[in-house]
Amino acid sequence: MTNLKNILVNKISCKSVWFMRQAGRYLPEFRKIRKENKDFIKLCLNSELSSEITLQPIKRFNLDSAIIFSDILMVPYALGQNITFEKNKGPKLSEFKSDTLINNKKENFSQKLSPVYRAIEITRDKLEKNKSLICFIGAPWTLAIYMLGLKKDDNNLDLDKYNSNKRQINKIIEELNMFLCAHIENQINAGADVVQIFDSWAGLIPSNDVKNFCYTPNKRIVDFCKRKKIPTICFPKGLKENYEAFNNFVKPDGINLDSILDPLWAKKKLKNVVFQGGLNPKILLKKNEDILELARKYLKTFKDIPYIFNLGHGLLPETDPVKVEMLVNFYRNHNE
Ligand code: CP3
Repeated sequence: MTNLKNILVNKISCKSVWFMRQAGRYLPEFRKIRKENKDFIKLCLNSELSSEITLQPIKRFNLDSAIIFSDILMVPYALGQNITFEKNKGPKLSEFKSDTLINNKKENFSQKLSPVYRAIEITRDKLEKNKSLICFIGAPWTLAIYMLGLKKDDNNLDLDKYNSNKRQINKIIEELNMFLCAHIENQINAGADVVQIFDSWAGLIPSNDVKNFCYTPNKRIVDFCKRKKIPTICFPKGLKENYEAFNNFVKPDGINLDSILDPLWAKKKLKNVVFQGGLNPKILLKKNEDILELARKYLKTFKDIPYIFNLGHGLLPETDPVKVEMLVNFYRNHNE
């Protein structure tokens, strides 16, 4: 059994490190490919290049796990929404038609995403056997944010839009479940061994709705994965003290901490779950000693329990790969 999977399933302690957004924006070798491939969605559908990009950080840093190069927005794409990226504004999706989901058949959906599954097959073939290959999805709420354009440019929730679209949000969240489960199963069948569920905008949900729009849809997906024996890592970013209720209700195998959570609080309150991440990715823009001080804090907090070393959000585009290498070397040699 591979490393990460073993930690999640058997709750054992052993060294393991990977980074969210490790394949991408901050790596010169990625930027070179990206320059020659202006259409991001097409790049995600190029199985050979996706696999190559997935393996770039493994070659550079010898990380323990690879995460497949793809995007959470490949699901809305496969369901028929058009996706464009405007510089510094993030992704823009074409208007959501209320029959977008209903008119889709699971088979057509899977067919449209088959290059992603092919990329996983190619990568699994090339990846050392003791390394894990992580696949991922966006949680229904986070996808709904993009599919319905519920976020303002300042990254706050557009409350008017939210309140007037409640029925549609409910419907999308309900209907996405089937497609997301199919996407996970297809990725696992292609050779991935763990799934990470990104609820990157969970922190924007008004507290009255957090159960409905975050806990329940995440639990449905985690329960599906449990039936299929697929290890899960949830990332309900920004939930603050609701991380505890989330963990008690959803019961994933692993949970990624964001950087605003106090790791000591998390250790005390979150039970029966493997911890991952937490370090603020901005720390990698600072001096080596600041980086190591923060790394030591997390390693000390979680030294006697299973802990997967990672960040509290993705690596920033302006990160110097030399700093990443320094941090990995420190982690490898850390013996306290
Ligand atoms: O190493 C990896 O993790 C690579 C695979 C990956 C990408 N996106 C590639 C990507 C993963 C796991 C994601 C997840 C993702 N995508 C999330 C959840 C994690 C998070 O960061 O919160 C979200 C919310 C998205 C949606 C998305 N895709 C946004 C907001 C953007 C634009 C801004 C940005 O983050 O770069 C993307 C584009 C995207 N996805 C890029 C990459 C490498 C940048 C493409 C480019 O312009 O070169």
